Amino acid sequence: LTGCELNDLKLGFDSIPGARLDAVAVANGYSAQVLAPWGTPLNHQANPWKDDGTNTSQDQLNAVGMHHDGMHFFPLNGSSREGLLCINHEYIDQNALHPEGGTVVNGKRPAEEVRKEVYAHGVSVVHIRLIDGVWEVVTDSPYNRRITSDTEMDVTGPIADSGLLVTKYTTGRGVENIARGTNNNCGNGYTPWGTYLTCEENWPFIFVNTGTQDAGQERMGIPTSGTRYGWETAENGQDDEFTRFNLTPSGTDATEDYRNEANGHGYVVEIDPYNPQSRAVKRTALGRFRHEDVTFGKLKKGKPVVFYTGHDGRFEYIYKFVSAKPWNPADARRFDRLAVGSKYMDDGILYVARFSEEGKGVWIPLLEDTQTTSGQTLGEVIGSQAEIILNCPWAGDAVGATPMDRPEWTAVDPDTGLVYVTLTNNTRRTEVNAANPRNNNKFGHIVRWEEGMTATEFSWDFFVFGSPANGDGATNLSGLTELNEFASPDGLIFDSRGILWVQTDNGADEVEENTNDQMLAVIPSRLKQAESGEPDIGGDNQDQLRRFFVGPNGCEVTGLAFTGNNKHFFVNIQHPSNWPYSANAAEETPADVKVRPRASTVVIMKNDGGEIGV
Ligand code: FEO
Ligand code: CA
Ligand code: CA
Ligand code: CA
Repeated sequence: LTGCELNDLKLGFDSIPGARLDAVAVANGYSAQVLAPWGTPLNHQANPWKDDGTNTSQDQLNAVGMHHDGMHFFPLNGSSREGLLCINHEYIDQNALHPEGGTVVNGKRPAEEVRKEVYAHGVSVVHIRLIDGVWEVVTDSPYNRRITSDTEMDVTGPIADSGLLVTKYTTGRGVENIARGTNNNCGNGYTPWGTYLTCEENWPFIFVNTGTQDAGQERMGIPTSGTRYGWETAENGQDDEFTRFNLTPSGTDATEDYRNEANGHGYVVEIDPYNPQSRAVKRTALGRFRHEDVTFGKLKKGKPVVFYTGHDGRFEYIYKFVSAKPWNPADARRFDRLAVGSKYMDDGILYVARFSEEGKGVWIPLLEDTQTTSGQTLGEVIGSQAEIILNCPWAGDAVGATPMDRPEWTAVDPDTGLVYVTLTNNTRRTEVNAANPRNNNKFGHIVRWEEGMTATEFSWDFFVFGSPANGDGATNLSGLTELNEFASPDGLIFDSRGILWVQTDNGADEVEENTNDQMLAVIPSRLKQAESGEPDIGGDNQDQLRRFFVGPNGCEVTGLAFTGNNKHFFVNIQHPSNWPYSANAAEETPADVKVRPRASTVVIMKNDGGEIGV
């Protein structure tokens, strides 16, 4: 944008009231359409979605997954009317997935049910196009594909060739650097060279180790009894399809069992949507933890490519990766996209953030010779570089990183390069620090920072604090009103013009009484400063935070993608309680119908066909 265009940028819609409906609400002058709900066939190997839960695992493998989350639109031939929508599927709802919910027979999960659950996770690449003003899925497009918790993929970076990926399966195949499946794909990112990035978040809970855990597994939170869905109990399918989720050693070494299976999980995964034959790649240099999302920093020719990614857990950390190679803009136009990914994402330094005091922070490199707070080096405390990457949270503890209030999405202002992060909530906080100043943080906040002159320093401030509108002076620190009160900020995405979109997940009761989860907009570069010196978000400012969209009952609003002309926004509705009864979101559910809610993408367009938001 030129400075002139930036000066003209302002929000062109009125904030809408909160809503609690089994339908979406969107600003005046806009409409919304349901696209690609869970179970939508991608090809003719899938039966149409059935409202009684009887679709098979093979149907699910060839259809859109469940519980949509992060998402990105990749245009075909630069079009804003046709492209590939990559959608994360974070987790599943067994009650909706199966006729009578998840079952257990003689202590075991039925293999067919488990297979359907495994296939409902992961990523969908969906070819979509606009026909007569309505977006539709292009069934049987060669671009359509599913990547699931069963899909074999490659592993690169420090964990590759470390021996940490050796299992009975890899040994049987005579290969090492592979992992089976991507799981609990939460937020996303994308790269300047046209690939999709999907982030593995709550993966520890699909594994169990009933034997003796090592310090790394314990710190990562891998369960010692039981898993989230009991997949490991299912009858053993092909290649230990399900028993591999049980990490408990049963053989004499790693070549005979699955003690290392979880070492292939917890990464940022790169997918080339334009090349359906390509394999997904786990980029381990960006760290192993419960990644929420990933965002690249403002690009500068000849400077490293930087990625930001937070660990969503109470008291967990924020990380950045700095590539060894300098950015060459010609790489954005190459067709061997995964080779470009290797160039910028396999070799570099991973740092963890310490917010030292208000305004000041340091990035601490996670390297073998980094000094820990106990005076030893990280290598002495944890081990090799591969073991440090495998155990990022432990490494963060050792170097004195700042425990945050659940880091969710990161976002980079295309104008200023400032980096924003949502800290969704942390009701267990009883001791504050500079960047997390509220005990029992029910409402969450957003912090932002600017990189310093060197790779190891940054400066930061608070952007906004969540609150109910009627919160008192101690609660409503940003002066929010009924038209922009929110809690639990989560999804956070800048569009190409510099508008920041904020999505919420499970607002605290005080806000939930007034509105379902929602999406708000603000233009940070246009905000005035309040007398306190903080951005004037809730005050009398024409570009203050405005509510644009409210989701249906029970849902979280998460994931946002744009066409290049900003005339079509794709928003995901995850875990609605009662929606959509049919593809027509306006149709009400008859009282005698058993509701089988479906996560879905919603497309938002302006009724006059104009750009959204302005
Ligand atoms: Fe999957 Fe932290 O949200
Ligand atoms: Ca999230
Ligand atoms: Ca969340
Ligand atoms: Ca979620």
